[in-house]
Amino acid sequence: MKKLKIAIIGCGNIARGSHAPHYLSNENCEIKYFCDIIPERADEFVKRFGCGKAVYDYKEIVNDPDLDAVSVCTHNDFHSIISIDFMKAGKDVLCEKPAARTLPEALEMQRVAHETGRTLNIGVCNRFGTAVNMIKDMIDNGDLGEVYHVYASFRAFRSIPGLGGDFTTKAISGGGSLIDWGVHYIDLIQYCCGDPKPLTASGKAFCKLGKDIPNYVYKDMWARDTAKTDGIYDVDDSVTAVIRTEGPVISLTGAWAQNIFVSETYIDFMGDKAGVRLNYCGDFAYFHIKDKDLVTTEPDFEPNDFYKAEVDSFVDCILTGKKNQANIDYAIETSKIMQAIYDSSDSGREVVIDA
Ligand SMILES: NC(=O)c1ccc[n+]([C@@H]2O[C@H](COP(=O)([O-])OP(=O)(O)OC[C@H]3O[C@@H](n4cnc5c(N)ncnc54)[C@H](O)[C@@H]3O)[C@@H](O)[C@H]2O)c1
Repeated sequence: MKKLKIAIIGCGNIARGSHAPHYLSNENCEIKYFCDIIPERADEFVKRFGCGKAVYDYKEIVNDPDLDAVSVCTHNDFHSIISIDFMKAGKDVLCEKPAARTLPEALEMQRVAHETGRTLNIGVCNRFGTAVNMIKDMIDNGDLGEVYHVYASFRAFRSIPGLGGDFTTKAISGGGSLIDWGVHYIDLIQYCCGDPKPLTASGKAFCKLGKDIPNYVYKDMWARDTAKTDGIYDVDDSVTAVIRTEGPVISLTGAWAQNIFVSETYIDFMGDKAGVRLNYCGDFAYFHIKDKDLVTTEPDFEPNDFYKAEVDSFVDCILTGKKNQANIDYAIETSKIMQAIYDSSDSGREVVIDA
């Protein structure tokens, strides 16, 4: 069988750690291009992975009839533009999370995916994790009873990414801790709970700790290579919100940075029969009642590489035409929720989420 020809647009961290190696380990693919606007990065990927051709402008390859699909691994400002251009040229797209900076951009991506009939998946990698799928199965089986409230805490202790760079410049990222981390938590909850329609959101996003960049004291900083001590910081470094859905109420508190010197990253699924606490990207505990005893079970499982599963599933979608759980039609609901939280924060009122 002819192998699918793939291009990776944006040769940074996520492309290096996930997309490139996972396409290469999939027997149905080969990487034809590595593209980055910083030429050395594309050149370095060609050398590192021993394949592909370096290109510095995606427009040079968008109409290559031999190209089947692309991964969009740029910063958020180019997600919609590049994904749309490739879909219009007949290519399937796996675009990193968040789908886009704003809901209108994400809706336009969805519209073009429908119009062109191309696959558009978003990098909501948790949907492919073993623990997450075990919890989803438990909820689907009724093990928790009615799941009426889900609480997410994604509070890190002073680890703003790329302080003063791409992640903290709203014009590039669209937002901070909510759009960068919250997207994963909200999407995971939506998936486990059967993708309920969101109804309303009330929230507040705070820009407090990072704004005095030169004096910001940090513990660690991933994306440090893009940090600039004189750069821009105009995004939320923490957020809190309540979201009503047709399923459970979701509440959350998140922070890239906080003056509580402890990090807490977990999701509590509260059912009327039982509950689950998922340690984000880790194991989980199942709290239930057996013979009138309160029992805590910590199920054994073999953790998988969910980034690899995401890429393999995308390849499968291209080959079979099937729609998977990372399709824009699911991810769009997370964009609606995040937009409503930001709008609520700006207006000081609860926001109704349109269907
Ligand atoms: N799924 C996850 O868990 C996960 C993890 C990390 C990052 N991400 C997402 O991946 C994206 C990239 O993050 P990163 O940490 O890899 O960033 P990065 O800065 O390491 O890499 C981004 C690269 O894109 C390049 N680029 C920017 N505009 C471009 C354009 N128009 N054409 C070609 N290349 C362009 C930059 O030069 C840079 O090399 C972000 O949207 C981020 O949210 C997802």
